[in-house]
Amino acid sequence: MGKNLINTNIQSLRLLKEAGVTDNLNEFPINRFNIKESFKNEDIENNLQTMNLKTEQQLLKIQDLKELQRFINNFKGCALYKEANNVVFSDGNPNSKIMLIGEAPGHDEDIEGKPFVGRSGKLLDKMLSAINLDREKVYIANIIPWRPPANRKPTENEIEICLPLIHKHIELINPKVLLLLGSTSTYALLKDKTPITKIRGKWFTLNINGKNIQAMPTFHPAFLLRQQKQKKYVWEDLQNIRDSIK
Ligand code: URA
Repeated sequence: MGKNLINTNIQSLRLLKEAGVTDNLNEFPINRFNIKESFKNEDIENNLQTMNLKTEQQLLKIQDLKELQRFINNFKGCALYKEANNVVFSDGNPNSKIMLIGEAPGHDEDIEGKPFVGRSGKLLDKMLSAINLDREKVYIANIIPWRPPANRKPTENEIEICLPLIHKHIELINPKVLLLLGSTSTYALLKDKTPITKIRGKWFTLNINGKNIQAMPTFHPAFLLRQQKQKKYVWEDLQNIRDSIK
């Protein structure tokens, strides 16, 4: 095969990967319903629990953010790292009383290695400045530190695998309050699948590695970019969050 043809083929494969294609079609039909069933089978759940126990034990030894960042940089338990350009660890002030938790990095965050630097990040900055806060006054991290291909939502398995990492992250920051941005972060930490429209603005007590922390879900900035009318609710939530640390 000529060099040009090989390059064109590689480019096409990259495009498909970027668009989220994970499988080739083949000659034989695959019963996807069976795959889904077996995906949820006990073996996988047991493996996940064993893996998480091992991760939690390793995390017990970690005493500071630098060590946690190093641990996550070398963590191979979640396959998302293979596709990502960067680990997106955090941004902001580690001494802040307010910790914001998003879902997962997108394209821009993956390139820059920082959370919320794309369009929704710009909106988040505006929302913070509307209540006299900025990135120097809050701390920001995500449930998942690697970009899922083509910005797809992280799977429940990926969320479960990354949960001990974000728990440790919260433990080390030890904020007074958590603001959970969107349904993925809310579901992951509260284990509550109530729609975000019903649950936002309410306070919950979360037990993170033995310590109780107050947490409030609110809408994700990416959702607000599509639903401008919902901004007023987030405004209320942010004011509550700010007042809670006075
Ligand atoms: N959305 C998120 O949830 N997190 C980011 O870092 C960027 C977009």
